[in-house]
Order: sequence, then C-alpha cells, then structure tokens
Amino acid sequence: MADNWDSSLYDDRHAFVWKTSADLIDLLAPQPGERILDLGCGTGHLTAQLAARGVEVTGLDSSLSMIAQARQNYPKVKFTVADARDFRFPEPFDAVMSNAALHWIAEAGLVATSIAAALKPGGRLVLEMGVLGNIAIILEALEGVLSQAGHKLTNPWYFPSAAEYATVLEQAGFEIRSVATFERWHRLEHPERGMREWLEMFAGTWFAEVPLEERESLVREIEIRLRPKLYCDRAWWADYKRLRVIASAARLPLRTQSGIPTP
Ligand SMILES: C[S@@+](CC[C@H](N)C(=O)[O-])C[C@H]1O[C@@H](n2cnc3c(N)ncnc32)[C@H](O)[C@@H]1O
Repeated sequence: MADNWDSSLYDDRHAFVWKTSADLIDLLAPQPGERILDLGCGTGHLTAQLAARGVEVTGLDSSLSMIAQARQNYPKVKFTVADARDFRFPEPFDAVMSNAALHWIAEAGLVATSIAAALKPGGRLVLEMGVLGNIAIILEALEGVLSQAGHKLTNPWYFPSAAEYATVLEQAGFEIRSVATFERWHRLEHPERGMREWLEMFAGTWFAEVPLEERESLVREIEIRLRPKLYCDRAWWADYKRLRVIASAARLPLRTQSGIPTP
C-alpha cells in the first residue's frame, strides 16, 4: 500500500485536523480500563488523549510514517501498522473511535465489517469523516484545473452521504444511535501559502502523475480559481463538511423485516 503521508508536515502545519475534533472523545465517553481502538490514528494525538483518560488504547494506521511519528510522539502508547479494511486483534474492544480517516477508504463495507468484528457485542463506534459536499469548492477547482490540463483525475477521497454511510454500517450489523452532518470551515494557518500547504499535505495523489515542472503552474491556477471563494479576512479557508456517527455493534444478530438475519 502506498504511503503518501508526510507525518512531519502533518504535525507541523495540520494539527487542526485532530484539535478541531478532540470533542469526539467526550462523545465516546471512555471509561477507565476500557479497551479502545483509534482507527486511522495518524500521529497519535487523539490516541494519547484517550490514554490520558485511563483507557487501554491502541492506535492503528496503515502509514508507516504516521505510526513512526506517533511512536516518537508518545512512546508509552501502543500503536500498530495495519489496514482498516482488514485487521484482527486477539481480544475484542469496548469501543472504536475514528477521526478524519474513513474518507480515505472507499471500501467502506470492508472497514465496517472489520470494525464490527473487532468490537464486543454492544461495543461503541464514534466516527468523524468528510461527508458528501466536504471541500466541494476545492474539489471543483482541482478537477477543473487538472482536467483542463489534460491530466487523469485520481481522486483519493470518498465522501459518502450520511444515509449511505449509515446504511453501510447497518449492513455490517451496527445499530445507529445518532448521525449528524455540519459545516466546519477551517481558517488555514498561513495567510498566503495556506491553500498550497493544504494541497501539499492532502492532495498529493491528484498530482502524482503530473510532471514536477508543471505542478507549480497548476497549483497557481487552482489558487486563482479559489481565491474569490475561499480567501477571506486575509486568510485561506478549507470548506470542510463533516459527518459524525455514533453506533453500536449489535448484541444479537439483527433481523430484517423478511426475518433474514443481516450478515
Ligand atoms: C488526516 S489523517 C487523520 C489522523 C488522526 N485520526 C488525526 O485525527 O490526526 C488520516 C489517517 O488515515 C490513515 N488511513 C488512510 N487509509 C487507511 C487505511 N486503509 N487503514 C488505516 N489507516 C488509514 C492515514 O494513514 C492517515 O494517518
């Protein structure tokens, strides 16, 4: 699996991703001694906050670079490299938390099934991810500029509707407790370079096949298109729209109206 993550750049300039979602931990309401999995834990900051609540936490991420940084950041916390689409632990978890990771994984059914299998019956799942409409303005500019320049569009993001993701979870045996979507535009750190730094961190896949010497002009063109919409108050903004789901793993096999147990 390709590792496109620059963990130093993530920690240096993009800490807002976990800082703005830190209240997920209160939604999860971790109890001391519980076994909790932080799925797609990145450089481990929310994992460490869970550890500070006295839980037995494991951070899981598919990126070697992110996990190496997480281990360096928090040597006492347990981290493991694995793929959210296919992972196994010997002991089940009381809860799974995931922030800003699941929209990087289009195979949502595989992820949901793996999470369900990793939880105790009744175990909680609390997740935040990009939802349909997330960064729609940035996405339109990326698609427009790259296709106009004759490049293949390689979109790494999966932004499902709330209904779609809830259905995926239900099909994996989860009971949905709550679903919320909300806009949370984020003011990017650097007043002038903010958008290009964001693109550098998160949109690398789009530029993977663009010759190096062409990239600067494309990024400049994207900035030109975005400036009237996302530059305001002497700062660049990212038009985030998020989905939060609270769900629990079924205690008994759920039955559909036809009486056939769901998988
Ligand atoms: C934006 S970061 C979020 C990290 C962390 N949850 C946080 O709040 O800072 C997204 C993370 O998802 C991870 N990820 C993407 N696809 C994954 C997969 N298939 N399995 C496990 N982790 C994955 C990436 O490696 C990356 O660390």
